[in-house]
Amino acid sequence: MSEKVFINEVGLRDGLQNQPNPVTTESKLAMAEALIAAGVQHIEAVSFVHPKAVPQMADAVDVLAGLPKDKNLNIAALVPNMKGYERAKEQGVKSVAVVLSSTDTFNMRNLNMTLQQTKETCQQVIQQAKADGIFVRGYVSGAFSCPYDGKTPVDIVHKLTADMIEFGADEISIADTVGAGNPTQVNDILAPLVQQYGGSLFNLHLHDTRGQALAMAWAGVTQGVRKFDSSIGGLGGCPFAPGASGNVATEDLVYMLEEAGFDSGIDIEKLRHAVAVAEQATGQELGGRVLQWMKSQDIRKQKNQAPCV
Ligand code: COA
Ligand code: ZN
Repeated sequence: MSEKVFINEVGLRDGLQNQPNPVTTESKLAMAEALIAAGVQHIEAVSFVHPKAVPQMADAVDVLAGLPKDKNLNIAALVPNMKGYERAKEQGVKSVAVVLSSTDTFNMRNLNMTLQQTKETCQQVIQQAKADGIFVRGYVSGAFSCPYDGKTPVDIVHKLTADMIEFGADEISIADTVGAGNPTQVNDILAPLVQQYGGSLFNLHLHDTRGQALAMAWAGVTQGVRKFDSSIGGLGGCPFAPGASGNVATEDLVYMLEEAGFDSGIDIEKLRHAVAVAEQATGQELGGRVLQWMKSQDIRKQKNQAPCV
């Protein structure tokens, strides 16, 4: 039996939050439906942030209401503060994510709080969520580089991770928010953490801005990480992190992990349909590298040519 890996689709939240044109609730639900049909079981679907800060998330309540209520489906909401947490809880959300960025500047630009204030907010939300029986992920954002202050020292990442674990977070997502990291940094960050806490506590959230995301994901695999974030078609970018481009494409990540012998539970052919739905939703051409290759194989087949190996 193949070892399992867990893919958390963040296209609906991270992917759509930065879209220049509004994406309708119906389109978001169509994306979710296509992803679920492909076997995706973990979705970060919305954030409960200020609608003026991120207009694309203004319909979070409607998106949650429209998602299927399947017990095998894990739907999460990002919450920046207690107000966001209460809004999510009101909707019956069973899983939330808090965000702590690595520098004062990034926390200020993103959430209008210093690093210390954000840390205290995360502590409050995590403790309340635990008391309410709600799963909490703690993002350590800008873990490889801060878009304002440059490369992040590994000690800071370890300290913020330890804080979140001490507050009671169930999972830590080490996030390369701007896609500026490299595989050596993954090793340096994760080796001591996995040794101390075990691999199952950690997730890698990678953006592919400089084409390093798959190499970094694989470094994570070798360190014992089995949970990864990705977005369909490589959608993404953070409005508060200049230079951030899309998350690693779900289809690229699934292809790599399946080819390497892991079981993601996701059907890559069906992901192609999900990319098409996301393209329709956003009016953008999307798709990871593997999708381009799959399309080229279709053309070869149509022309009766031998497949390209
Ligand atoms: N959802 C909706 N409204 C919220 C809110 C939330 N989570 N948190 C605060 N507010 C409201 C307050 O109720 C207040 O409303 P009022 O003016 O009607 O009284 C107003 O926003 C200002 O509250 P304040 O606590 O001073 O917030 P702020 O102006 O400092 O903004 C955030 C803080 C976090 C709400 C805002 O920066 C934000 O939403 N950022 C989102 C960033 C993001 O999504 N980044 C990408 C993912 S990490
Ligand atoms: Zn991200």
